[in-house]
Amino acid sequence: MKTITVLPGDGIGPEVTASAVRVLRSIMKHSQQDVQFVEKKIGGAAIDTYGTPLPQETIDQCQSSDAILLGAVGGPKWNAQSMNIRPEQGLLGIRKAMGLFANLRPVEAYQALIDSSPLKRTFVENVDFVIVRELTGGLYFGTPSERRGANNEQVVDTLAYSRTEIQRVVEKAFQLAMKRRKKLTSIDKANVLESSRMWREVVNQLAKHYPEVTVNHQLVDSAAMQLITNPGQFDVLVTENMFGDILSDEASVITGSLGMMPSASLRSDKVGLYEPVHGSAPDIAGQGKANPLATILSAALLLRYSLDMDQEASKIETAVREVLNQGYHTGDLQIDHQDDKIVNTTEITDLVINTMNQNST
Ligand code: NAD
Ligand code: IPM
Ligand code: MN
Repeated sequence: MKTITVLPGDGIGPEVTASAVRVLRSIMKHSQQDVQFVEKKIGGAAIDTYGTPLPQETIDQCQSSDAILLGAVGGPKWNAQSMNIRPEQGLLGIRKAMGLFANLRPVEAYQALIDSSPLKRTFVENVDFVIVRELTGGLYFGTPSERRGANNEQVVDTLAYSRTEIQRVVEKAFQLAMKRRKKLTSIDKANVLESSRMWREVVNQLAKHYPEVTVNHQLVDSAAMQLITNPGQFDVLVTENMFGDILSDEASVITGSLGMMPSASLRSDKVGLYEPVHGSAPDIAGQGKANPLATILSAALLLRYSLDMDQEASKIETAVREVLNQGYHTGDLQIDHQDDKIVNTTEITDLVINTMNQNST
């Protein structure tokens, strides 16, 4: 029996995780694998019940699970809270507590969605890369991080990395590149930052163990530009925590919507946390408008990386592609095709499940 912990979180989190759980339940009906789902609170929802964004109960449950499926955290309701009881702290806390240092964010241009990207068709077509974002170090976790002075007139955040922290995530990126097109782009700010210079050193050292992989280094400002002007050049990108956060939202423009970007947060064993790249989207929460595909695609990654169910993962991905090819999509994707059919969260989920079922018979 495998255990998947579901952390719906806030805003559209509960809507998109409900969709992904329905897809997982449906796929499990046709498989030998027994799975139980256990739901726990995180983020603002946990603050409301327990006074903390990451209750011990949630950590314990996650630590005894095979995989975690997370929606999103945060929202205007909790914005006025002091920093250490913000919903976002729950998310950072669970990533750290679980040691999930490598965040894979695949960026794929779906044929049916090419025209929903504001970028020219020729730039977007055939784009297929993965951002490997370091997830438990850097500016997000460095100490001190504090306000200073009698009147709080100074602030400090610290960007710290150990060589080991860099090595393990870069190693993951090389391994991934070996399974793909064997091209690795490392993104840093080595013209300014000491941490980036060590990052570059580590990449060059590890490159010797992967002679088949073509490695190049890009400075983050230029990489941000190239992500938009020449995204076709990329296969695997590896970068530190904050750069990866920013570049992945930028990359979502290629897919047409943040609502299409899944992610997998991994460590050295098979346990992982799977979540969409987007946030809790308070502006559309509770309206049935949320695009659940990023979370459904994250559930596919969960099957592939944590449960060894590659075939089932591909089944979900194929169904998503087919539903989009039939012209169905949620309102976040703006395509001006005549045969466009805009549907809500539940409807697109039903379509994915029905397509999977049809494909299995
Ligand atoms: P956001 O990603 O929540 O939303 C940005 C825009 O994209 C909004 O217009 C939203 O409606 C749209 N959008 C996002 N996901 C969508 C989906 N699945 N379907 C349709 N439209 C979608 O970013 P934000 O507004 O800057 O942040 C809102 C809150 O979410 C903040 O509290 C932030 O801290 C939090 N956040 C959480 C996570 C996470 O839990 N992983 C990630 C990012 C932001
Ligand atoms: C993400 C989010 C989080 C991050 C926030 C909500 C803490 O933006 O998962 O991309 O910055 O990691
Ligand atoms: Mn982000």
